[in-house]
Amino acid sequence: MKPVTLDTIVSLAKRRGFVFQSSEIYGGLNGCWDYGSLGVELLRNLKDAWWKSMTYRDDIEGVDASILMHPRVWEASGHVANFTDPMIDNKTSKARYRADTLIEDYIAKLEKNGKTDRAKAVRERLAAAREPDDFYQIIVDEEITDPVGGSKDWTPVRYFNLMFKTFVGPVEDTNSVVYLRPETAQGIFVNFRNVLDSARQKVPFGIAQVGKAFRNEINTKYFLFRTREFEQMEMQYFVKPGTHSEQFEYWREQRFQWFLDLGMSPEMIRFKPHDKLAHYADAAVDIEYKFPFGWGEIEGIHSRTDFDLKRHEEFSGKKLEFVDTVTRDRFVPYVIETSVGASRSFMAFLCHAYNVENVGGADGEDAERTVLKFHPKLAPVKAAVLPLVKKDGMPEFADKLYRDLQKSFNVQYDESAAVGRRYRRQDEIGTPFCITIDGDSLQDNTVTIRERDTMQQIRVAAETVKEYVMKSLL
Ligand code: GAP
Repeated sequence: MKPVTLDTIVSLAKRRGFVFQSSEIYGGLNGCWDYGSLGVELLRNLKDAWWKSMTYRDDIEGVDASILMHPRVWEASGHVANFTDPMIDNKTSKARYRADTLIEDYIAKLEKNGKTDRAKAVRERLAAAREPDDFYQIIVDEEITDPVGGSKDWTPVRYFNLMFKTFVGPVEDTNSVVYLRPETAQGIFVNFRNVLDSARQKVPFGIAQVGKAFRNEINTKYFLFRTREFEQMEMQYFVKPGTHSEQFEYWREQRFQWFLDLGMSPEMIRFKPHDKLAHYADAAVDIEYKFPFGWGEIEGIHSRTDFDLKRHEEFSGKKLEFVDTVTRDRFVPYVIETSVGASRSFMAFLCHAYNVENVGGADGEDAERTVLKFHPKLAPVKAAVLPLVKKDGMPEFADKLYRDLQKSFNVQYDESAAVGRRYRRQDEIGTPFCITIDGDSLQDNTVTIRERDTMQQIRVAAETVKEYVMKSLL
């Protein structure tokens, strides 16, 4: 089978109603995407699967914090001072780049051409770069050219803060500035005390949240991979200092297993340790997926020490400690963070599900079928009800079954075209089960269930269909 390209995924996503460019009729808005009728189901199923696995347990509580927060939150978190990317423009083409990405792409090219020593040296310089000039000097020394026009005429590098600013109230002045949150995590940290007290939890315990985040990325990239508006699913697990390494190991395994349980193959995901740690972290690892364009991060797991809670203590003047009522121990907990992009992993699951198979044609079917092999939990449509022909009472029988199934999960009804063609349509959107009603159904109340991946068919009593499908969703 040919490897899938990103263009194929983008075009299927549009054609079948998974994802559309935002404001498309106006020419689109870069870095923003809209989810169509199937996309919104897939995204919800993904978020539900995460939510259930993270919060349906004794030690993790959910929250849904507001997107706009007190501006001091972002001073405490370090985002006002440090949430920046180095930016550079080419004077000839006017193209704008992240300077570090430009250098990374150059390193990748060196490696591809076998210049490994040179690549290593540049990588070391990049890892040590702090000031804008450090990046600029690498670009000049290495004579890096503009990927668009080949020019070496660069502006100086300057830092650009990725937070979107807006104003509360009618007056647009510096006192009314607020930010659209660039991560959901801070909504969890500032609610640490509220949740600890109201849910009567004890350390170790966690708080989980799913929600939108916004980053004014210099370059958006690869469809849903790097966008300006996206969703995150984050969990902060508060632990006693000294137990954090063990908890970090536990969570990294749990999170990897979550992807496997939802159908990812082990050779398509991997752990990637961080080359350099953020100043607040004492351990960090990414989970990467092998996208059509190469390996890319889908989740980060960080051991963040007590950095966040201590900073919020300092900036808010409120104590953010845990007091153990039995031992009288008093401490600011350490935090293990698991942070996964809902939209980015949506794209990973979509790419992973995509298959083109040659299955031979019969009964109006094409020899080739495109099939999205989603785990049933993720599949946007769980079952399709198909009367074999539009007569002899079959549509009425099918409609009754369809309406009954619809009370429990998302189902489609389709009576147009040959049944083989209808199977193909359902394969292409990843529907795990097709239920066909034929002449015998009216005699003995049985139907056929055709399974998407194996294409095997079994005959069952109509009243058992719901249970059959529900079992696959557990
Ligand atoms: N609280 C930690 C944090 O936000 P991050 O590595 O910046 O860490 C976590 O982001 C995850 O959020 C990433 O692994 C990715 O899945 C997703 N993400 C980050 N920036 C994104 C963007 N611009 N577009 C889509 N997803 C993004």
